[in-house]
Amino acid sequence: MLLTEKVAVITGGGRGIGRAMALKFAREGAAVVVAARTKSEIEAVAEEVRKTGGRAAAIPADVADEKQCERLIAEAASKFGRVDILVNNAGEYGPVKPVEEISPAEWDRVIAVHLRGAYLLTRLVLPGMYARGSGVILNISSLSAKSAFGWGSPYAAAKAGMLGLTRVAAAEAARKGVRVNAICPGPVTETKMSKDLGQTLAERLGVSKEEQLQGFLNTILQGRGQTANEIAAAALFLCSEQSSAITGQALNVDGGAAFY
Ligand SMILES: NC(=O)c1ccc[n+]([C@@H]2O[C@H](COP(=O)([O-])OP(=O)(O)OC[C@H]3O[C@@H](n4cnc5c(N)ncnc54)[C@H](OP(=O)(O)O)[C@@H]3O)[C@@H](O)[C@H]2O)c1
Repeated sequence: MLLTEKVAVITGGGRGIGRAMALKFAREGAAVVVAARTKSEIEAVAEEVRKTGGRAAAIPADVADEKQCERLIAEAASKFGRVDILVNNAGEYGPVKPVEEISPAEWDRVIAVHLRGAYLLTRLVLPGMYARGSGVILNISSLSAKSAFGWGSPYAAAKAGMLGLTRVAAAEAARKGVRVNAICPGPVTETKMSKDLGQTLAERLGVSKEEQLQGFLNTILQGRGQTANEIAAAALFLCSEQSSAITGQALNVDGGAAFY
């Protein structure tokens, strides 16, 4: 097993990519702390883990809220002793509008969830990781950080910001035994966020959901989206010792869409 005795906090773990990571990490021996706002979803994932003999806790938290982040990390540490792995995965797409129609409040909310949330949790786990001389942080960014899709500027800015945070945190942490990396997934079409976005884009473009999706998938080398499990497999690699010499990197898991 790749994560024996590790303790992993996975934000946005109630469904989609976060759920897939929680299940995979638990199967590899990690105790997983699943965090998101919807209690029923995180409890269901924790229960799924326990049913297969794994260790899990569900802790409700909005990652945009500093106090809730503090409580999340404190409760995770009190439940399982420490945090070895932090996956900043919680997210929502936000407004699907051109820049000039996005309100400052809408802009701030998207940045607060993705970028500020990742920063808040990173600053909370790093001191413990430094004290132990080991730890891994993984930021779930996006193809949107590297591409140019209209009507998603706060999302793209937040996801690109996460890559800057990844590099600088990696630089500061590298000689203290801590690695920080990111994954840039392409379209993971099975998730709620992806489906909601596809529906909204199709309505705005005046095409069917199927046409909208196919048009997008045609721009990808493999001609298909990625599964949550495929993202979770890359996450497992980056959170395990299998990637012990990799830090400060952003791994594209997008079927061939971004090339830097
Ligand atoms: N699906 C894609 O195509 C795709 C592509 C690239 C990157 N990503 C990224 O992958 C991550 C997971 O997305 P997904 O596709 O799996 O979407 P999803 O199925 O909608 O899951 C999003 C998760 O994040 C949680 N969340 C949202 N806002 C939160 C907040 N403020 N505080 C705490 N938890 C919050 C949600 O739970 P609650 O709503 O209950 O809080 C949910 O558990 C996101 O960061 C997304 O940007 C997705």
